[in-house]
Amino acid sequence: STNADTINRLNGKRVVITAGPTREAIDPVRYLSNESSGKMGYALAAAAAICGAEVTLISGPTQLTPPQNVSRINVISATDMHEAAMAYAEKADIFIGAAAVADFRPEHVASTKLKKKIGEEAMVIKLIKNPDIIANVAALTPKPFTVGFAAETNNVDQYARDKLTRKHLDMIIANDVSRSEIGFNSEHNEVTVFSEYDEIHFPHQSKDRLAKALIQTIANAFQSAMDR
Ligand code: CTP
Ligand code: CA
Repeated sequence: STNADTINRLNGKRVVITAGPTREAIDPVRYLSNESSGKMGYALAAAAAICGAEVTLISGPTQLTPPQNVSRINVISATDMHEAAMAYAEKADIFIGAAAVADFRPEHVASTKLKKKIGEEAMVIKLIKNPDIIANVAALTPKPFTVGFAAETNNVDQYARDKLTRKHLDMIIANDVSRSEIGFNSEHNEVTVFSEYDEIHFPHQSKDRLAKALIQTIANAFQSAMDR
């Protein structure tokens, strides 16, 4: 396709992307979180905006500046991200779940700073499950074209395909986070994209370049789904 085609690929389409980690409060000064930098989600948001999409980036706490022509909604916890995602997903054409959502949160959040007790050598924090944001988005009717990520350390392809099926996603982007040079907190990534029929490998490259290629693949698959 020509450059002009690429630029207008997603003209007028609403794309909603979750990105970054979530933070699950323990008390006013402590939380549980993860190593996600948000770079992949932000790069996808930038790439979608370049293609003419109206992009909403629902972001957990990151150090990143929102890309040009992207409207960013800042959230902290998985519960907040879930609420924002469901509100925006209703009107979305494409939903991409790039966030590293905490699977669990502390059942009780202390209203004051927790104190050590004399003689207590261990403490237990009970965690309860967070909502599965992308599975709930994919359960909407009508549902947006829904793209997930699968960060795995082993059995990457099998676990990714399982998530594609179990969460009723249209596409899943699998990356092997056991390799320190790619994935979490890295500038680079190497992924395999699975859909019902297809499997496409994207070799090791910068997240910016990869995001542009992934947005083209997503736009193609979205278009095919619309044409069916
Ligand atoms: N995801 C989500 N809400 C959650 C957990 C995950 O929306 N509560 C999304 C992620 O944004 C990603 C996909 O689901 O697009 C897969 O996330 P991942 O952590 O790999 O899968 P889980 O289903 O949480 O399974 P597990 O962590 O046990 O491998
Ligand atoms: Ca998880």
